[in-house]
Amino acid sequence: MTPARLAQQHVAGKQEVMREYMLRTRPGGVKGADHDALCDLLEVDDPSRVIFEQGRGRQAVVRVFPVNPLAKMRAITLEDLEMDEDGCIRIGSYYDGEPLRMRVHDPETGNAQRIIIFGTTGAGKSRALQAFLVACKRAGIVVHLADLKGGQSVPEATGNCATHVRSLKDAMGMLRAAVAKAEARFQRYAEMGRSGFLINNPDPLEYIVIDEANRLLEKGSPFRAEAARLIKEIGRTGRSVGIGIVLAAQAGHLDELGGSDTLRAMLKEGEVILLRWSSQMMAALVGDGLLPAGENLQPIPKILGRARTIQRWGTPVDRSKEKPNSQGMCYHLTSARPTSMARYFLVGSLSPHEGYDPEIRRLYGSAPPPGEPLKLIFPSVDEGPDGKSATAPGDGGHGTDEDDAPLPPMPRTLKDRILAALAEGPLSEADLLAALDDDGGKEAKRGSVRTTVSTLRGEDKLAPKDPSGLITRNN
Ligand SMILES: Nc1ncnc2c1ncn2[C@@H]1O[C@H](COP(=O)(O)OP(=O)(O)OP(=O)(O)O)[C@@H](O)[C@H]1O
Ligand SMILES: [Mg+2]
Repeated sequence: MTPARLAQQHVAGKQEVMREYMLRTRPGGVKGADHDALCDLLEVDDPSRVIFEQGRGRQAVVRVFPVNPLAKMRAITLEDLEMDEDGCIRIGSYYDGEPLRMRVHDPETGNAQRIIIFGTTGAGKSRALQAFLVACKRAGIVVHLADLKGGQSVPEATGNCATHVRSLKDAMGMLRAAVAKAEARFQRYAEMGRSGFLINNPDPLEYIVIDEANRLLEKGSPFRAEAARLIKEIGRTGRSVGIGIVLAAQAGHLDELGGSDTLRAMLKEGEVILLRWSSQMMAALVGDGLLPAGENLQPIPKILGRARTIQRWGTPVDRSKEKPNSQGMCYHLTSARPTSMARYFLVGSLSPHEGYDPEIRRLYGSAPPPGEPLKLIFPSVDEGPDGKSATAPGDGGHGTDEDDAPLPPMPRTLKDRILAALAEGPLSEADLLAALDDDGGKEAKRGSVRTTVSTLRGEDKLAPKDPSGLITRNN
Protein backbone atom coordinates (compact mmCIF):
# COMPACT_ATOMS: atom_id res chain seq x y z
CA MET A 1 0.00 0.00 0.00
CA THR A 2 1.33 3.42 -0.81
CA PRO A 3 1.37 6.08 1.88
CA ALA A 4 -1.22 8.15 -0.02
CA ARG A 5 -3.68 5.24 -0.19
CA LEU A 6 -3.02 4.50 3.45
CA ALA A 7 -4.02 8.04 4.33
CA GLN A 8 -7.12 7.96 2.14
CA GLN A 9 -8.38 4.72 3.66
CA HIS A 10 -7.70 5.85 7.16
CA VAL A 11 -9.34 9.22 6.87
CA ALA A 12 -12.36 7.66 5.17
CA GLY A 13 -12.71 5.11 7.97
CA LYS A 14 -12.07 7.60 10.82
CA GLN A 15 -10.69 6.34 14.08
CA GLU A 16 -13.38 4.98 16.39
CA VAL A 17 -11.79 1.53 16.41
CA MET A 18 -8.22 0.45 15.95
CA ARG A 19 -7.21 0.40 12.31
CA GLU A 20 -4.34 -1.60 11.03
CA TYR A 21 -2.38 -1.09 7.84
CA MET A 22 0.25 -3.45 6.57
CA LEU A 23 2.92 -1.74 4.55
CA ARG A 24 5.32 -3.30 2.15
CA THR A 25 8.25 -1.27 1.09
CA ARG A 26 10.49 -1.45 -1.89
CA PRO A 27 13.34 -3.98 -1.70
CA GLY A 28 15.79 -2.95 0.99
CA GLY A 29 13.28 -2.55 3.80
CA VAL A 30 12.32 0.50 5.79
CA LYS A 31 15.31 2.79 6.06
CA GLY A 32 13.73 5.44 8.20
CA ALA A 33 10.34 6.59 9.37
CA ASP A 34 9.36 10.09 10.28
CA HIS A 35 6.67 9.61 12.87
CA ASP A 36 5.41 13.16 12.70
CA ALA A 37 5.11 12.98 8.94
CA LEU A 38 3.20 9.70 9.24
CA CYS A 39 0.75 11.25 11.71
CA ASP A 40 0.34 14.21 9.42
CA LEU A 41 -0.47 11.94 6.54
CA LEU A 42 -3.04 10.11 8.63
CA GLU A 43 -4.46 13.37 9.98
CA VAL A 44 -3.93 12.26 13.55
CA ASP A 45 -3.00 15.11 15.85
CA ASP A 46 -1.91 12.99 18.84
CA PRO A 47 1.24 11.11 17.71
CA SER A 48 1.04 8.60 20.56
CA ARG A 49 -2.12 7.10 18.99
CA VAL A 50 -0.23 5.98 15.90
CA ILE A 51 1.97 2.99 16.45
CA PHE A 52 4.45 2.08 13.80
CA GLU A 53 6.21 -1.21 14.01
CA GLN A 54 8.82 -2.44 11.65
CA GLY A 55 8.50 -6.08 10.74
CA ARG A 56 11.01 -8.38 9.18
CA GLY A 57 12.41 -7.59 5.78
CA ARG A 58 10.22 -5.23 3.84
CA GLN A 59 7.15 -5.19 6.04
CA ALA A 60 5.90 -2.66 8.50
CA VAL A 61 2.61 -2.22 10.26
CA VAL A 62 0.88 0.99 11.22
CA ARG A 63 -1.89 0.85 13.80
CA VAL A 64 -4.04 3.81 14.68
CA PHE A 65 -5.77 3.60 18.05
CA PRO A 66 -8.53 5.79 19.52
CA VAL A 67 -6.09 6.41 22.42
CA ASN A 68 -2.60 5.04 23.01
CA PRO A 69 -3.18 1.45 24.16
CA LEU A 70 -0.48 1.85 26.80
CA ALA A 71 -1.99 5.00 28.26
CA LYS A 72 -3.44 3.16 31.23
CA MET A 73 -1.65 0.23 32.80
CA ARG A 74 -2.82 -2.01 35.57
CA ALA A 75 -0.89 -2.51 38.78
CA ILE A 76 1.72 -5.25 38.85
CA THR A 77 0.79 -8.30 40.93
CA LEU A 78 2.81 -10.87 42.84
CA GLU A 79 1.67 -13.42 40.30
CA ASP A 80 3.29 -11.38 37.52
CA LEU A 81 6.51 -11.35 39.50
CA GLU A 82 6.65 -15.10 39.99
CA MET A 83 9.22 -16.79 37.76
CA ASP A 84 7.72 -19.04 35.07
CA GLU A 85 9.30 -22.25 33.77
CA ASP A 86 11.64 -20.18 31.57
CA GLY A 87 12.88 -18.20 34.56
CA CYS A 88 11.04 -15.08 33.36
CA ILE A 89 8.83 -12.61 35.19
CA ARG A 90 6.07 -10.51 33.62
CA ILE A 91 6.93 -6.85 34.00
CA GLY A 92 4.46 -5.19 31.67
CA SER A 93 2.79 -5.46 28.33
CA TYR A 94 3.45 -4.70 24.67
CA TYR A 95 1.00 -2.31 23.03
CA ASP A 96 -0.94 -5.22 21.54
CA GLY A 97 -1.40 -6.93 24.90
CA GLU A 98 1.39 -9.52 24.69
CA PRO A 99 3.11 -9.80 28.07
CA LEU A 100 6.49 -8.10 28.40
CA ARG A 101 8.84 -10.51 30.11
CA MET A 102 12.27 -10.26 31.65
CA ARG A 103 14.52 -13.22 32.37
CA VAL A 104 15.78 -13.50 35.91
CA HIS A 105 17.28 -16.96 35.71
CA ASP A 106 18.08 -19.24 32.82
CA PRO A 107 16.99 -22.74 33.91
CA GLU A 108 18.61 -24.32 30.85
CA THR A 109 22.16 -23.07 31.34
CA GLY A 110 21.90 -22.07 35.00
CA ASN A 111 23.48 -18.74 34.08
CA ALA A 112 22.78 -15.55 35.99
CA GLN A 113 21.66 -12.61 33.85
CA ARG A 114 23.25 -9.30 32.96
CA ILE A 115 20.62 -6.63 32.74
CA ILE A 116 20.85 -2.95 31.94
CA ILE A 117 18.02 -0.44 32.16
CA PHE A 118 18.62 2.86 30.36
CA GLY A 119 16.51 5.97 30.36
CA THR A 120 16.49 9.66 30.89
CA THR A 121 15.65 11.18 34.23
CA GLY A 122 12.17 10.32 35.50
CA ALA A 123 11.62 7.68 32.82
CA GLY A 124 10.99 4.92 35.35
CA LYS A 125 14.35 3.18 35.87
CA SER A 126 14.12 2.93 39.64
CA ARG A 127 10.55 1.59 39.60
CA ALA A 128 11.63 -0.96 37.01
CA LEU A 129 14.37 -2.00 39.42
CA GLN A 130 11.90 -2.29 42.28
CA ALA A 131 9.84 -4.80 40.27
CA PHE A 132 13.00 -6.85 39.80
CA LEU A 133 13.95 -6.56 43.49
CA VAL A 134 10.50 -7.74 44.62
CA ALA A 135 10.65 -10.69 42.24
CA CYS A 136 14.07 -11.66 43.60
CA LYS A 137 13.03 -11.41 47.22
CA ARG A 138 9.92 -13.50 46.62
CA ALA A 139 11.91 -16.15 44.70
CA GLY A 140 14.66 -16.50 47.31
CA ILE A 141 17.22 -14.78 45.09
CA VAL A 142 19.79 -12.83 47.09
CA VAL A 143 20.22 -9.14 46.20
CA HIS A 144 23.08 -6.81 47.01
CA LEU A 145 21.94 -3.30 46.19
CA ALA A 146 23.74 0.01 45.72
CA ASP A 147 21.39 2.98 45.55
CA LEU A 148 23.78 5.72 44.55
CA LYS A 149 21.34 8.56 45.06
CA GLY A 150 22.01 8.21 48.75
CA GLY A 151 19.17 5.71 49.14
CA GLN A 152 16.49 7.96 47.66
CA SER A 153 15.91 6.09 44.44
CA VAL A 154 14.54 2.84 45.78
CA PRO A 155 13.70 3.68 49.41
CA GLU A 156 11.22 0.82 49.77
CA ALA A 157 14.07 -1.65 49.25
CA THR A 158 15.32 -0.78 52.73
CA GLY A 159 15.38 -3.97 54.78
CA ASN A 160 14.42 -6.02 51.73
CA CYS A 161 17.87 -6.78 50.32
CA ALA A 162 20.73 -8.76 51.86
CA THR A 163 23.13 -5.84 51.36
CA HIS A 164 22.06 -2.22 50.85
CA VAL A 165 24.68 0.48 50.38
CA ARG A 166 24.22 4.13 49.52
CA SER A 167 27.63 5.64 48.75
CA LEU A 168 30.11 5.25 45.89
CA LYS A 169 32.75 4.05 48.30
CA ASP A 170 30.55 1.33 49.81
CA ALA A 171 29.39 0.33 46.34
CA MET A 172 33.05 -0.31 45.49
CA GLY A 173 33.42 -2.37 48.66
CA MET A 174 30.38 -4.34 47.56
CA LEU A 175 31.68 -4.90 44.02
CA ARG A 176 35.04 -6.12 45.33
CA ALA A 177 33.29 -8.51 47.69
CA ALA A 178 31.08 -9.80 44.89
CA VAL A 179 34.08 -10.53 42.66
CA ALA A 180 35.84 -12.29 45.52
CA LYS A 181 32.72 -14.39 46.09
CA ALA A 182 32.43 -15.27 42.41
CA GLU A 183 36.08 -16.29 42.31
CA ALA A 184 35.67 -18.46 45.40
CA ARG A 185 32.65 -20.18 43.87
CA PHE A 186 34.53 -20.68 40.64
CA GLN A 187 37.35 -22.45 42.48
CA ARG A 188 35.00 -24.52 44.56
CA TYR A 189 32.86 -25.61 41.61
CA ALA A 190 35.99 -26.50 39.62
CA GLU A 191 37.14 -28.73 42.48
CA MET A 192 33.70 -30.37 42.54
CA GLY A 193 33.99 -31.02 38.80
CA ARG A 194 30.95 -28.81 38.07
CA SER A 195 30.62 -27.09 34.76
CA GLY A 196 27.71 -24.83 35.56
CA PHE A 197 25.53 -23.31 38.21
CA LEU A 198 22.72 -25.20 39.93
CA ILE A 199 20.39 -22.86 41.73
CA ASN A 200 20.27 -23.40 45.53
CA ASN A 201 22.53 -26.42 45.25
CA PRO A 202 24.32 -25.50 47.38
CA ASP A 203 24.45 -21.72 46.69
CA PRO A 204 21.62 -19.30 45.97
CA LEU A 205 21.39 -17.19 42.83
CA GLU A 206 22.61 -13.67 43.70
CA TYR A 207 22.42 -10.30 41.97
CA ILE A 208 24.49 -7.18 42.30
CA VAL A 209 22.11 -4.32 41.54
CA ILE A 210 23.34 -0.76 41.01
CA ASP A 211 20.93 2.14 40.56
CA GLU A 212 22.51 5.29 39.08
CA ALA A 213 25.45 3.18 37.90
CA ASN A 214 26.57 6.15 35.80
CA ARG A 215 27.73 7.85 39.00
CA LEU A 216 30.36 5.15 39.47
CA LEU A 217 31.33 4.84 35.86
CA GLU A 218 31.25 8.33 34.37
CA LYS A 219 34.36 10.33 33.57
CA GLY A 220 35.53 12.10 36.68
CA SER A 221 34.34 9.36 39.06
CA PRO A 222 37.31 8.44 41.24
CA PHE A 223 36.38 4.76 40.90
CA ARG A 224 35.72 4.67 37.19
CA ALA A 225 38.46 2.30 36.06
CA GLU A 226 38.18 -0.10 38.99
CA ALA A 227 34.37 -0.17 38.87
CA ALA A 228 34.40 -0.97 35.14
CA ARG A 229 36.91 -3.75 35.75
CA LEU A 230 34.92 -5.28 38.61
CA ILE A 231 31.59 -5.09 36.78
CA LYS A 232 33.21 -6.72 33.78
CA GLU A 233 34.58 -9.41 36.04
CA ILE A 234 31.14 -10.13 37.54
CA GLY A 235 29.74 -10.29 34.02
CA ARG A 236 32.41 -12.79 33.06
CA THR A 237 33.09 -14.98 36.09
CA GLY A 238 29.86 -14.35 37.99
CA ARG A 239 27.53 -15.35 35.21
CA SER A 240 28.36 -19.04 35.28
CA VAL A 241 28.55 -19.27 39.07
CA GLY A 242 25.19 -17.69 39.84
CA ILE A 243 26.19 -14.07 40.45
CA GLY A 244 24.52 -11.68 38.03
CA ILE A 245 24.57 -7.94 37.58
CA VAL A 246 21.83 -5.38 37.00
CA LEU A 247 22.58 -1.75 36.22
CA ALA A 248 20.18 1.17 35.92
CA ALA A 249 21.80 4.18 34.32
CA GLN A 250 20.99 7.52 32.89
CA ALA A 251 23.74 7.42 30.34
CA GLY A 252 23.75 9.05 26.97
CA HIS A 253 26.84 7.21 25.93
CA LEU A 254 28.39 3.92 26.82
CA ASP A 255 31.46 6.05 27.24
CA GLU A 256 29.79 7.27 30.42
CA LEU A 257 29.69 3.66 31.53
CA GLY A 258 33.35 3.05 32.07
CA GLY A 259 34.50 3.57 28.51
CA SER A 260 35.42 -0.05 28.26
CA ASP A 261 34.96 -2.15 25.18
CA THR A 262 34.56 -5.33 27.14
CA LEU A 263 31.83 -3.82 29.28
CA ARG A 264 30.14 -2.70 26.10
CA ALA A 265 30.28 -6.20 24.68
CA MET A 266 29.00 -7.66 27.93
CA LEU A 267 26.03 -5.34 28.01
CA LYS A 268 25.22 -6.03 24.41
CA GLU A 269 24.92 -9.70 25.21
CA GLY A 270 22.74 -9.10 28.25
CA GLU A 271 19.16 -7.92 28.50
CA VAL A 272 18.77 -4.26 27.59
CA ILE A 273 15.68 -2.23 28.38
CA LEU A 274 15.38 1.29 27.03
CA LEU A 275 12.92 3.64 28.69
CA ARG A 276 12.24 7.18 27.42
CA TRP A 277 15.46 8.62 26.07
CA SER A 278 16.77 12.08 25.52
CA SER A 279 17.51 13.20 22.00
CA GLN A 280 21.28 12.79 22.34
CA MET A 281 20.93 9.27 23.71
CA MET A 282 19.44 7.70 20.62
CA ALA A 283 22.22 8.59 18.21
CA ALA A 284 24.76 7.46 20.78
CA LEU A 285 23.04 4.11 21.34
CA VAL A 286 23.02 3.44 17.62
CA GLY A 287 26.61 4.60 17.38
CA ASP A 288 27.59 2.30 20.20
CA GLY A 289 26.02 -0.61 18.39
CA LEU A 290 23.37 -1.21 21.03
CA LEU A 291 20.68 -0.47 18.50
CA PRO A 292 21.03 -1.94 15.06
CA ALA A 293 21.31 0.89 12.54
CA GLY A 294 18.25 1.07 10.34
CA GLU A 295 15.81 -0.27 12.94
CA ASN A 296 13.20 2.28 13.73
CA LEU A 297 12.12 3.02 17.25
CA GLN A 298 9.11 5.23 17.43
CA PRO A 299 9.92 7.92 20.00
CA ILE A 300 8.37 7.64 23.44
CA PRO A 301 6.62 10.97 24.06
CA LYS A 302 6.96 12.63 27.44
CA ILE A 303 3.25 13.34 27.43
CA LEU A 304 0.68 10.98 25.90
CA GLY A 305 -2.44 12.36 24.32
CA ARG A 306 -1.05 15.77 23.51
CA ALA A 307 -2.34 17.19 20.29
CA ARG A 308 0.04 19.24 18.22
CA THR A 309 -1.58 22.62 18.05
CA ILE A 310 -0.48 26.11 17.38
CA GLN A 311 -1.79 29.00 19.36
CA ARG A 312 -2.88 32.45 18.27
CA TRP A 313 -0.71 35.14 19.80
CA GLY A 314 -2.06 36.12 23.19
CA THR A 315 -4.44 33.16 23.62
CA PRO A 316 -4.25 31.79 27.18
CA VAL A 317 -2.57 28.36 27.23
CA ASP A 318 -3.96 25.54 29.36
CA ARG A 319 -0.96 23.74 30.82
CA SER A 320 -2.94 21.60 33.27
CA LYS A 321 -2.48 18.45 31.19
CA GLU A 322 1.21 18.97 30.54
CA LYS A 323 2.60 16.60 33.16
CA PRO A 324 4.77 13.76 31.91
CA ASN A 325 2.68 10.59 31.89
CA SER A 326 4.63 8.07 29.89
CA GLN A 327 6.77 6.74 32.74
CA GLY A 328 7.58 3.08 32.32
CA MET A 329 7.09 3.05 28.54
CA CYS A 330 9.98 1.18 27.03
CA TYR A 331 11.52 -1.06 24.43
CA HIS A 332 13.00 -4.39 25.40
CA LEU A 333 15.85 -4.21 22.95
CA THR A 334 17.13 -7.74 23.39
CA SER A 335 13.74 -9.48 23.29
CA ALA A 336 12.14 -11.06 20.26
CA ARG A 337 10.27 -7.77 19.69
CA PRO A 338 12.89 -5.05 20.06
CA THR A 339 10.96 -2.44 18.10
CA SER A 340 7.53 -2.97 19.71
CA MET A 341 6.47 -0.30 22.16
CA ALA A 342 5.79 -1.69 25.61
CA ARG A 343 5.17 -0.44 29.10
CA TYR A 344 5.85 -1.54 32.66
CA PHE A 345 2.86 -2.31 34.83
CA LEU A 346 2.34 0.16 37.65
CA VAL A 347 4.82 -0.43 40.42
CA GLY A 348 3.43 1.63 43.26
CA SER A 349 1.60 4.84 42.69
CA LEU A 350 2.28 7.50 40.08
CA SER A 351 2.05 10.30 42.60
CA PRO A 352 4.78 10.92 45.17
CA HIS A 353 4.39 9.68 48.74
CA GLU A 354 5.45 10.99 52.04
CA GLY A 355 7.56 8.12 53.31
CA TYR A 356 7.48 4.67 51.76
CA ASP A 357 4.97 3.82 49.07
CA PRO A 358 2.67 1.34 50.88
CA GLU A 359 1.88 -0.60 47.71
CA ILE A 360 5.56 -1.24 47.00
CA ARG A 361 6.19 -2.25 50.63
CA ARG A 362 3.28 -4.66 50.37
CA LEU A 363 4.79 -6.25 47.25
CA TYR A 364 8.04 -6.89 49.09
CA GLY A 365 6.21 -8.39 52.07
CA SER A 366 7.42 -8.25 55.64
CA ALA A 367 9.61 -11.37 55.69
CA PRO A 368 13.37 -10.82 56.05
CA PRO A 369 15.30 -10.85 52.77
CA PRO A 370 17.04 -14.06 51.70
CA GLY A 371 20.80 -14.42 52.04
CA GLU A 372 23.64 -12.95 54.02
CA PRO A 373 25.02 -9.44 53.60
CA LEU A 374 28.28 -9.21 51.70
CA LYS A 375 31.27 -8.21 53.78
CA LEU A 376 32.40 -5.08 51.99
CA ILE A 377 36.05 -5.10 50.97
CA PHE A 378 38.24 -2.01 51.17
CA PRO A 379 41.89 -1.97 50.21
CA SER A 380 44.10 -1.30 53.21
CA VAL A 381 46.25 1.84 52.99
CA ASP A 382 49.55 -0.02 52.75
CA GLU A 383 48.44 -2.14 49.87
CA GLY A 384 47.70 0.59 47.36
CA PRO A 385 44.64 0.93 45.16
CA ASP A 386 44.48 -2.67 44.10
CA GLY A 387 45.14 -4.31 47.46
CA LYS A 388 42.93 -7.32 47.84
CA SER A 389 43.04 -7.91 51.56
CA ALA A 390 39.77 -7.22 53.25
CA THR A 391 38.98 -4.86 56.04
CA ALA A 392 35.29 -5.50 56.36
CA PRO A 393 33.19 -2.92 58.13
CA GLY A 394 31.58 -4.03 61.35
CA ASP A 395 27.93 -4.06 60.39
CA GLY A 396 28.28 -6.42 57.49
CA GLY A 397 27.33 -3.99 54.79
CA HIS A 398 24.15 -2.30 55.95
CA GLY A 399 25.61 1.17 55.41
CA THR A 400 28.98 2.04 56.83
CA ASP A 401 30.41 5.07 58.48
CA GLU A 402 32.04 7.13 55.74
CA ASP A 403 35.19 7.55 57.84
CA ASP A 404 35.53 3.89 58.79
CA ALA A 405 37.34 2.57 55.83
CA PRO A 406 40.43 4.11 54.32
CA LEU A 407 40.07 5.33 50.76
CA PRO A 408 42.51 3.88 48.28
CA PRO A 409 45.23 6.45 47.70
CA MET A 410 44.42 8.09 44.38
CA PRO A 411 47.19 9.68 42.33
CA ARG A 412 46.22 13.34 42.43
CA THR A 413 48.27 15.59 40.23
CA LEU A 414 48.77 15.08 36.54
CA LYS A 415 52.48 14.64 37.27
CA ASP A 416 51.74 11.77 39.65
CA ARG A 417 49.30 10.22 37.25
CA ILE A 418 51.80 10.32 34.36
CA LEU A 419 54.52 8.78 36.53
CA ALA A 420 52.08 6.08 37.72
CA ALA A 421 51.06 5.28 34.14
CA LEU A 422 54.72 4.89 33.16
CA ALA A 423 55.61 2.72 36.16
CA GLU A 424 55.33 -0.50 34.15
CA GLY A 425 57.46 0.71 31.26
CA PRO A 426 57.77 3.31 28.50
CA LEU A 427 54.67 4.32 26.51
CA SER A 428 54.01 6.20 23.31
CA GLU A 429 52.12 9.46 23.70
CA ALA A 430 48.91 7.85 22.42
CA ASP A 431 49.18 4.96 24.89
CA LEU A 432 49.95 7.35 27.72
CA LEU A 433 46.83 9.36 26.87
CA ALA A 434 44.78 6.16 26.80
CA ALA A 435 46.19 5.07 30.17
CA LEU A 436 45.30 8.46 31.67
CA ASP A 437 41.83 8.17 30.20
CA ASP A 438 41.38 4.91 32.02
CA ASP A 439 42.95 5.66 35.40
CA GLY A 440 39.80 7.10 36.95
CA GLY A 441 41.13 10.65 37.20
CA LYS A 442 39.94 13.82 35.50
CA GLU A 443 40.06 14.06 31.74
CA ALA A 444 43.66 14.82 30.73
CA LYS A 445 44.03 17.03 27.66
CA ARG A 446 46.82 16.31 25.19
CA GLY A 447 48.21 19.86 25.60
CA SER A 448 48.51 19.62 29.38
CA VAL A 449 50.01 16.13 29.14
CA ARG A 450 52.68 17.42 26.71
CA THR A 451 53.49 20.37 28.97
CA THR A 452 53.67 18.16 32.07
CA VAL A 453 55.87 15.63 30.27
CA SER A 454 58.38 18.37 29.41
CA THR A 455 58.29 19.67 32.98
CA LEU A 456 58.99 16.16 34.26
CA ARG A 457 61.85 15.86 31.77
CA GLY A 458 63.21 19.14 33.12
CA GLU A 459 62.98 17.73 36.62
CA ASP A 460 64.86 14.60 35.48
CA LYS A 461 61.95 12.36 36.38
CA LEU A 462 61.53 11.34 32.75
CA ALA A 463 64.27 10.44 30.29
CA PRO A 464 65.08 13.06 27.63
CA LYS A 465 63.19 12.92 24.35
CA ASP A 466 64.51 10.21 22.06
CA PRO A 467 63.90 9.27 18.41
CA SER A 468 61.64 6.28 19.28
CA GLY A 469 58.98 8.72 20.51
CA LEU A 470 58.51 6.66 23.67
CA ILE A 471 58.14 8.40 27.01
CA THR A 472 60.30 6.74 29.64
CA ARG A 473 60.45 7.15 33.37
CA ASN A 474 63.80 7.65 35.13
CA ASN A 475 63.92 5.41 38.12
N1 LIG B 1 6.21 1.46 36.64
C1 LIG B 1 5.79 2.56 37.27
N2 LIG B 1 4.67 2.51 38.01
C2 LIG B 1 4.22 3.59 38.68
N3 LIG B 1 4.83 4.78 38.65
C3 LIG B 1 5.94 4.92 37.92
C4 LIG B 1 6.49 3.80 37.21
N4 LIG B 1 7.60 4.22 36.60
C5 LIG B 1 7.75 5.51 36.92
N5 LIG B 1 6.75 5.95 37.72
C6 LIG B 1 6.53 7.31 38.22
O1 LIG B 1 7.56 8.15 37.70
C7 LIG B 1 8.39 8.64 38.73
C8 LIG B 1 9.84 8.54 38.30
O2 LIG B 1 10.17 7.18 38.18
P1 LIG B 1 11.60 6.63 38.60
O3 LIG B 1 12.01 7.23 39.89
O4 LIG B 1 11.54 5.16 38.50
O5 LIG B 1 12.44 7.26 37.42
P2 LIG B 1 14.01 7.20 37.19
O6 LIG B 1 14.21 6.88 35.75
O7 LIG B 1 14.64 6.32 38.18
O8 LIG B 1 14.41 8.71 37.42
P3 LIG B 1 15.77 9.34 38.00
O9 LIG B 1 16.71 9.43 36.84
O10 LIG B 1 15.31 10.68 38.44
O11 LIG B 1 16.25 8.46 39.08
C9 LIG B 1 8.07 7.80 39.95
O12 LIG B 1 8.20 8.53 41.13
C10 LIG B 1 6.64 7.41 39.72
O13 LIG B 1 5.79 8.45 40.14
MG1 LIG C 1 16.04 6.61 39.66
